[in-house]
Amino acid sequence: MRLYHEHDAPEIPDADFDQLVRELRELEAAHPEFAAPDSVAEQVGGTPAGIFSPVVHEVPMMSLDNAFDLDELRGWSERLERRLGEPINAYVCELKFDGLALSIRYEDGKLVRAATRGDGTTGEDVTHSVSTIADVPHALTDEVPIPRVVEVRGEAYMRRSTFNRLNEAQAAAGLKEYVNPRNAAAGSIRQKDAEAARSRGISFWPYQLGQVVDGPELAAHSNTFEFLTSIGFGVNEHARVVDNIDGVVDFISEFQNRRHDLDYEFDGIVIKADDLETQRVLGSTARAPRWAIAYKMPPEERSTKLIDIPISIGTNGSATPYALLEPVFVGGVTVTNATLHNQDQVAAKDVRPGDIVVVRRAGDVIPEVVGPVLSERDPDSEPWVFPNDCPVCERPLVRPEGEARHRCPYADCPAQVRGRIEHFAQRNAMDIEHFGERTVDLLVTAGLITDVGDVFLLDPEELSQFEGFGETSIENFRAGLEASRTRPLGNLIFALAIPHVGSTNGKVLAKAFGSLDGVASATADEIAAVDGIGPVIADSVAEWFASDNGQAIVEKLHRGGVQPVAPEVSTLEQTLVGKSIVVSGGLANYGRSDAKTAITDRGGKAPGSVSKSTFALVVGNDPGASKVTKAEDLGVPILDEAGFETLLRTGDLPT
Ligand code: IVH
Repeated sequence: MRLYHEHDAPEIPDADFDQLVRELRELEAAHPEFAAPDSVAEQVGGTPAGIFSPVVHEVPMMSLDNAFDLDELRGWSERLERRLGEPINAYVCELKFDGLALSIRYEDGKLVRAATRGDGTTGEDVTHSVSTIADVPHALTDEVPIPRVVEVRGEAYMRRSTFNRLNEAQAAAGLKEYVNPRNAAAGSIRQKDAEAARSRGISFWPYQLGQVVDGPELAAHSNTFEFLTSIGFGVNEHARVVDNIDGVVDFISEFQNRRHDLDYEFDGIVIKADDLETQRVLGSTARAPRWAIAYKMPPEERSTKLIDIPISIGTNGSATPYALLEPVFVGGVTVTNATLHNQDQVAAKDVRPGDIVVVRRAGDVIPEVVGPVLSERDPDSEPWVFPNDCPVCERPLVRPEGEARHRCPYADCPAQVRGRIEHFAQRNAMDIEHFGERTVDLLVTAGLITDVGDVFLLDPEELSQFEGFGETSIENFRAGLEASRTRPLGNLIFALAIPHVGSTNGKVLAKAFGSLDGVASATADEIAAVDGIGPVIADSVAEWFASDNGQAIVEKLHRGGVQPVAPEVSTLEQTLVGKSIVVSGGLANYGRSDAKTAITDRGGKAPGSVSKSTFALVVGNDPGASKVTKAEDLGVPILDEAGFETLLRTGDLPT
């Protein structure tokens, strides 16, 4: 509690803190005899730290109750309606900004004092810092009658872009980086020297009024925003009035999806009954108003126990350490492991088995271990060391000079064999049905297959020796194998797991060489001559097919009856060979991809941007202005749709 509110340096994620306060509150409710009179569960914020002058708030700055899911939210609105004896027909939904709450006091239109929330009754005077915030006017606009006194309450925060720039500068100067924008904002304001707030760039969103003397008669909270605008504050554009709780739920789901699209962080949605008379009737408890609630978004950071740091061996032998975690619900999913990338990353984070660690999962980004909670570390723990041996084949791992990753250098390591066979069988490769991880594992472990060439030589009857494989599953596997013998050639080339060859390159090679033997017998130079294939890939492909292993696999594939289907060769006249044509804007007779296909089917290239090697730019409706300008600058001919058709037919510009 003190770390968060007074030092702006929390050690555990906010969600863990919320959870602890909740548990405490439940315990105190169940056993009031043990409840402390100054219980943390009842406190609003921190006690002022004492470096700044105290400011007693004329109107207390209250906290908000939380709803952690939609049921709790609906429960809240039902309670309010029961209390009122009538439905509520207007709620205001606002983002819950993640920053530092401030109360900014104006007397006769002049900023006289700005204070933090503190414990809700007494805050700290931070006028010097707040005066540097560009979003906070020093004098209110006098186009409207200005109240004698008005306190504007809201959140000081730091934009993500500002935060990233600040941390880049910190890193460049060899200084410690800030943990998150909230700590950076709060820390900047709570400095004796106003320069910190000024130079780091703090922003402010107002959302509420405190004391008002001789102010306008407002009927609804939504009018507060109009009033704030009229006195010169910028208000957040996302606040919205909705009719009922279903509207609130819609707002929540909309902003749950947009959480990472905005340039500032919010960790929830604040919902307020709009009508001020309704608010007055509902009143407050000791710590929070009844008429408002904070819906907390699923947490993106939680702490959990790091059980162990095992090593996983990839298809190409890469040895990757990962965190094996006690399951934790974070970012909307249950996380049980997270990659730790490599030896240096583990050392940099200094996470150790047995540690309590902070786990983060933001949006669709893969889960990551942020770092250990040091105060919870076992004093006897030792830094983790990278194991010497492969956990699967038990032979020594290597870390090649200049590389970050360790590798298991043995291609016959069962982990690699399994990985290559799973890769071979996967959907966008040979797509072998009824050949999942478990079957692969059984067959590899039993030594029945040692490389992908063995897959089609295997007698499916062999599966009958394993438990759980009856007639039906054996038949299914046989059918799966049969169907995959005639997959497209591009899929087969990709399926071989040749280093650097992804599925796009697989297709390109298939088109260029037309058969497996065609690619297999091509020289590195011939491969490098294919459009879109660079020298590194060309060498890798040539080397793979020339190796004993590669040759053995090709031979086995033939023997196993694999007959990949070659890509169709275009029968159109190849008018555009060697020409690169860019299409921009909508054409009447061609969809976007049709226009590209029309070009590539005639041997041409259809890149997305104009360069000096572009043969022509074709413009339809609403073309990209920058493409047109660039073509004009470079003297690239610009054609309309009719000109495009001539070009397709003749390979030349219209005369
Ligand atoms: S209204 C009496 N609106 O959340 C109502 N608070 O947990 C007082 N906060 O102290 C708050 N965004 O620091 C309100 N749109 C918003 C908010 C907001 C962030 C913060 C504020 C407050 C805390 C309560």
